[in-house]
Amino acid sequence: MTRRLTFNIFRYNPQDPESVPHTDNFVLEEAERMTLYIALTKIREEQDHSLTFDFCCRAGICGACAMVINGRPGLACKTLTKDLPDEITLMPLPVFKLVGDLSVDTGTWFSAMNEKVESWVHTNKKMDPTVQEERMNNALAEEIYELERCVECGCCVAACGTANMRQDFLGAVALNRIARFIMDPRDERTEKEYFEVVGTDEGIFGCMGLLACEDVCPKQLPLQDQLGILRRQMGWTAVKQLFHIAK
Ligand code: SF4
Ligand code: SF4
Ligand code: FES
Repeated sequence: MTRRLTFNIFRYNPQDPESVPHTDNFVLEEAERMTLYIALTKIREEQDHSLTFDFCCRAGICGACAMVINGRPGLACKTLTKDLPDEITLMPLPVFKLVGDLSVDTGTWFSAMNEKVESWVHTNKKMDPTVQEERMNNALAEEIYELERCVECGCCVAACGTANMRQDFLGAVALNRIARFIMDPRDERTEKEYFEVVGTDEGIFGCMGLLACEDVCPKQLPLQDQLGILRRQMGWTAVKQLFHIAK
């Protein structure tokens, strides 16, 4: 039997002084293999043209459609309604600036984060286009690629207790990013330089370790492992700094 789904959707337009935060209810007949993307598009086309939400790839690749689905951050385009109860509550991701309804500005947050952790390979080697590229060990390249699969959706940040309490917290996504550069033999940053970026309360020592980040990551990044490794590395660097032996 076809289910009738009830959607409780957060509505608010911060640009409109008359707008008041509230939820609107929409009822929709479920279709086979319906995703939340399809449901929201149908609601916007047939019931309320002003409903605001973000989508781009519809394939779990761009990270744009993240929202809080029945209390849990996730990607709307990868969520099938058949896996949800008859009543579905959709809220925008917390932590990020609200654009309107379910749409948030993750771009500004991510570009500030990328600048803060200097998310690029630091090297003094001059690029010579006439020389063959240096090969990287395949196993290592795969390990790095595993961490590179992040789609910057923001789910891990939205689920993080520390990020919700403290705006300066870097979040699992940034800590994972640094872990990726530490692994990369082309990056010439020293232990001390990495420590300055993440060996702080804004970084790994502000993390409570409850791992909501890993639970909600739609790309199943190994955040738990990376946070553990980084905590140990930064702990050792702190000890070495005490004895003035950190490089
Ligand atoms: S383990 Fe750390 S980064 Fe992950 S959700 Fe908890 S506090 Fe945030
Ligand atoms: S680590 Fe996972 S949850 Fe966090 S931004 Fe990347 S893909 Fe999204
Ligand atoms: S629309 Fe791109 S991840 Fe959902």
